[in-house]
Amino acid sequence: MTEATLLEPCKDVKAFLNSDLKLLINGQRVSSASGETFEVLDPSNNSVLTRVPKGGSEDIDRAVRAARNAFETGPWRKLTVSERGKLLWKLADLIERDLEIFAQLESLDNGKPLAIARAADVPLTIDHFRYYAGLATKIHGETLDISVPYAPGAEFFDFTLREPIGVVGQIIPWNFPLLMATWKLGVALAAGNCVVLKPAEQTPLSALKLGDLFVEAGFPAGVVNIVTGFGDTGAALAEHNDVDKVAFTGSTEVGHKIVQASAGNLKRVSLELGGKSPSIVFADADLELAAQGVANAIFFNHGQCCCAGSRLMVHSKVYEELVERVADTAKKIKLGPGMASDTDMGPLVSREQQERVLKYINSGLSNGAEALAGGGIPKGLDAGCYISPTVFNRVTQGMQIVQEEIFGPVLAASPFEDLEEAIAKGNDTEFGLAASVWTRDINKAHKVAKGLKAGTVWVNCHNIFDANAPFGGYKKSGYGREMSLHALEMYTQVKNVIIQIH
Ligand code: NAI
Ligand code: MG
Repeated sequence: MTEATLLEPCKDVKAFLNSDLKLLINGQRVSSASGETFEVLDPSNNSVLTRVPKGGSEDIDRAVRAARNAFETGPWRKLTVSERGKLLWKLADLIERDLEIFAQLESLDNGKPLAIARAADVPLTIDHFRYYAGLATKIHGETLDISVPYAPGAEFFDFTLREPIGVVGQIIPWNFPLLMATWKLGVALAAGNCVVLKPAEQTPLSALKLGDLFVEAGFPAGVVNIVTGFGDTGAALAEHNDVDKVAFTGSTEVGHKIVQASAGNLKRVSLELGGKSPSIVFADADLELAAQGVANAIFFNHGQCCCAGSRLMVHSKVYEELVERVADTAKKIKLGPGMASDTDMGPLVSREQQERVLKYINSGLSNGAEALAGGGIPKGLDAGCYISPTVFNRVTQGMQIVQEEIFGPVLAASPFEDLEEAIAKGNDTEFGLAASVWTRDINKAHKVAKGLKAGTVWVNCHNIFDANAPFGGYKKSGYGREMSLHALEMYTQVKNVIIQIH
């Protein structure tokens, strides 16, 4: 990697990184109550990008109070739904104006290639806010005919109101920092809630920048509050008794803790947790398309996707050929900093994540799995958190690398003999987030889609997302659906009004 291919951050990004970054509470930029800050690292070389406030439980409490006031007494609830939608649309326009700033911050902070952040993370964010801007004016209750058999002759009019839940805590991960914040914020605000957002400690920058745009767009004070901090900061939010609902995306382990923390005031919970998604390739598939597709399924975002196609299952007739193609693709992936123009895959988000993934690779190797590609840390990139794209051959169901979420560029491949075995194996983990099926046979596609216990099944594609397509898990991958109209279920509650007409 030569310095010449590295893009310098633009002047606005430099200015942002050099500014005194603060929490956003009640429309104001404030330091943490303790005055403490923590370092934000560039995972391509572990240099310090900047520092952000280390919010604690006192800051969470301040933010929750601001959100409560905004919800109960502020101007927010008095806005018409059209005005609410317009604010979200304005926000999307501002993000579009600052697309390059967001893309660079995302690349520097998370390690992902700048080209990907420009083409995927930020445009999806803009589109998502526009989708929910439009939805703000279309949330509605219903009128119901009721019979009331014990009141013969009486006349009733029954209608429902779909109301916001109130103060919502949102705890987000580091793999798509801006987009994960967006998936949670868009629907919550369209439905009229107020929010306290806790970004991941590894990647707080794009959320703080987004905070500036909420203020600029004219959202009333306290509607969106942003508190940067670590796991204990998230825990303070999850257990706060004046939070009505908490939404979490992250590890299944922390998902359990969120549910426990919610018990105090029985707040509502939605969870988007880990996955171990299979890519299932039948012998009749277009093998070129499938090989490229299953490689993208695992290597996109360096395997740090909850729905990464981390298990490859291939019909035995084409197993060798397909796995070889995927391994060849893996070997050709160019690793480097996200800000380098020729990078296909950047570093993982942190040393911690690199070590976690390396441990899984070593467990695969010591369990006798053969690495057809990768299998460790690439040479010459020691300063960053890199892992070589890895393809394990002929793994067996009991292996840790087949059962546990790795969250890195590590694929575990195995053959299958028939459709029933493919479905059974596909379902043989504790997760159920997503899956892809690769076949030209529409009957097989339907049967496998129906047989899999997964929240999303892709056919002849993988990692396709849209604001209008629901996303969420079966089994230990969580509950509740993000995006689409379904997400409204998690951010509204139904009030029934029954009027007797005399
Ligand atoms: P994590 O689940 O610990 O972190 C996710 C978010 O939860 C962060 O904002 C973090 O500060 C917060 N958090 C941590 N402990 C908390 C607690 N007790 N209460 C409330 N909030 C808390 O994930 P981590 O440690 O960064 O990664 C570990 C593994 O989790 C990864 O290797 C991957 O397998 C999985 N993961 C899955 C994600 C997904 O999209 N489903 C995203 C991130 C991680
Ligand atoms: Mg953790």
